[in-house]
Amino acid sequence: MTALLKFPAGFTWGAATASYQIEGAWNEDGKGESCWDRFAHTPGKILNGDTGDVACDHYHRWKEDIALMKRLGLKAYRFSVSWPRVLPKGSGAVNQTGIDFYSRLVDGLLAAGITPFLTLFHWDLPQVLEEKGGWASRATAESYLEFTDAVTRALGDRVKAWITLNEPAVVAWAGYATARHAPGRNDYALAVRASHHLLLAHGWAIPVIRRNSPGAEAGITLNTGWTVPASNSIHDRDAARRGEIWHRWFLDPLYGRGYPADLQADLAAQNALPHGLDFVQSGDLEAIQVSTDFLGINYYFRTVCRSDAPGNDPQTVFPAEKNLDRYTECENWEIFPDGLSGILKRCTFEYLAPKIYVTENGASYSTPPDSSGRVPDVRRIRYLHGHIAACHEAIRSGVPLAGYFVWSLMDNFEWGQGYKQRFGIVWTDYKTQQRIPKDSARWYAEVIQNNAVDPFVEMGSGSVSS
Ligand code: FCB
Repeated sequence: MTALLKFPAGFTWGAATASYQIEGAWNEDGKGESCWDRFAHTPGKILNGDTGDVACDHYHRWKEDIALMKRLGLKAYRFSVSWPRVLPKGSGAVNQTGIDFYSRLVDGLLAAGITPFLTLFHWDLPQVLEEKGGWASRATAESYLEFTDAVTRALGDRVKAWITLNEPAVVAWAGYATARHAPGRNDYALAVRASHHLLLAHGWAIPVIRRNSPGAEAGITLNTGWTVPASNSIHDRDAARRGEIWHRWFLDPLYGRGYPADLQADLAAQNALPHGLDFVQSGDLEAIQVSTDFLGINYYFRTVCRSDAPGNDPQTVFPAEKNLDRYTECENWEIFPDGLSGILKRCTFEYLAPKIYVTENGASYSTPPDSSGRVPDVRRIRYLHGHIAACHEAIRSGVPLAGYFVWSLMDNFEWGQGYKQRFGIVWTDYKTQQRIPKDSARWYAEVIQNNAVDPFVEMGSGSVSS
């Protein structure tokens, strides 16, 4: 018999969600409009015209959702707070009903023995702030401080793990440069400004969190990906270097290196820095490099880059045959667990992150319930197994990995893709709001219980076929 891959004692096993993706109740109890409400209500923006108006109705079903988490044996739950639920106008008056919702949620989690990991900002900016320039405006970082203060003052006695921002690169690039996400802007120069104000918001928030939540740990979550060249040609290698803007543009300033000169030159060549770094004011870089307790990493796939000439936009190539064993149902998301161990090592040995959590990892497969009501999502189990084994390997190599959160607890609103992509380990029936734990949920529950995975998924699949 082969030995199990054991994780360190106290390893944090969790699941993650985000407010707009699960809560629904988009205009109840004094909640203000968010940029995602506006975007989803704009025809043509989201696949099939889906919206997060109801989503998983978690706002009304949070108690049963906590009971479900408890049944799965989750040690931790990562969720986010809807800023416009707490500050409907973005700043100023606090909506106590909004705060009370999260307060009850936190109490419910603690009573169930589940540690809350609270993400302050997972993309649903108050629309009123968007109309004043959103993240492209420095004032949004100031409002974010008010928001952070309100939430940490209310919950800081009970929440002891805080994540300032989820994936600022996606907010900046997908929201302001490529228009794939809310607010749907199409201007690279705005995106670069937004990236700075997001980082600034993070840097300014950390001392506020420390003040209002003594003894808590705080960090930021980045989507680092794993970017490699398609060949050894000089152009392909340069394409991969440029593709790293997704993480280096954020990791470098966070870890005291300022904005990378090579990427600044690339952005300038794209006219994305028409006035240079004029948005960086004195003291900003010091604020951004504030020391944190951990780095959150979201990882899903690798990106293989090529380019046929210097300066041309990098293109992504797909080395593996396109099938569901090599790619998930999210178009072009290649399954590549070694990318996860690779990025964890890079953050540890190159950036010296003191502690890391994988704050998201998971796969979209739409396997439905069968006639007996069971969801045999074997591919998701394989995906999770491969990536959890990669985490184990990283820990053995010296990565200070303290926890792993599967994305997602349940199927939910997947941004531009609406309800088509299903990432949950729990099936959501959107008509009845019934939750059905998939086979992957049972498998994950066993991993948590053993604090270990089998080296080979086939050997660990007893619970899957039972
Ligand atoms: C990440 C997001 C998360 C979810 C997954 C699939 O980029 O943080 O909300 O949509 O992708």
